[in-house]
Amino acid sequence: MSDSWYEVAFGSHYPEIYGHRNEAEAKLCLELLPTLAPLSENGLPVLDLGCGDGRHLENLQNDSFHGIGLDLSAPLLDLARKRPGPASLIRGDMRHLPLANHSLGSVFSLFTAFGYFGRLQENSVMVQEVSRVLAPGGHWFLDYFNCDRVRHELGSGESFQRKRIVQGMSIVETRRYIEAQGLVAKDVQLEKISGSEGALNLPNEGLRYTEQVAVFSLEEIDELAGTQGLVRVAAAGSYAGAPLAEGDRWILVYGRKKV
Ligand SMILES: C[S@@+](CC[C@H](N)C(=O)[O-])C[C@H]1O[C@@H](n2cnc3c(N)ncnc32)[C@H](O)[C@@H]1O
Repeated sequence: MSDSWYEVAFGSHYPEIYGHRNEAEAKLCLELLPTLAPLSENGLPVLDLGCGDGRHLENLQNDSFHGIGLDLSAPLLDLARKRPGPASLIRGDMRHLPLANHSLGSVFSLFTAFGYFGRLQENSVMVQEVSRVLAPGGHWFLDYFNCDRVRHELGSGESFQRKRIVQGMSIVETRRYIEAQGLVAKDVQLEKISGSEGALNLPNEGLRYTEQVAVFSLEEIDELAGTQGLVRVAAAGSYAGAPLAEGDRWILVYGRKKV
């Protein structure tokens, strides 16, 4: 049986392809989030769900709460382990969280660590887990791409290609919006450039995969959250805090209803 795309895409090569998604950007994002809603009340831990290499967790350490990172990718968790800070790291699937009911002050889904499992029904399993582990009054911070903008930019059917060379690796990315399936697909082709000293984390034969991320409407995300007792309480459109409709991100904050 073949691996799901997200098991291939988030290997040890991933931080090299997304070098611009770095600590400085993570810091900017973490400065914004507490202006939107409290990260933790009563000292409950904060979970970075799909924490990747831990770039947010490193800056999340705080005297008043503990940071937990969960990710499926063993190589990215290895990188997270090398960072300073006392965060706890767990390898696991975001659809089955090994955490107690109502035990967390916040859950973060940052830089599009969401929408990987198909459309609404398939992603609702993960949102159900987020709601289960959040304490009443806690918050889910979802940092997604601005789906309206992507739908507008990509139209339907056409493909857009970008080629670049990073650290001895040739990267060809072809993106298209597949309206019928409600997702954006990105074909990624990675190859080592012969004679280069770089691309250490890439297999000799290179790597090919297709990322598939759901394109939702805001109403759909709100409804998905709402069915799990999560109500939108704040939003921004960029890490610099642009209004929701004016940025390239949908940074949405949902409060867990008090029961
Ligand atoms: C786009 S990256 C974002 C990483 C991190 N939040 C950041 O901003 O750098 C998405 C992350 O989700 C993780 N992931 C994908 N599918 C997952 C799953 N089913 N369960 C847990 N983590 C998953 C990937 O391994 C990857 O680290």
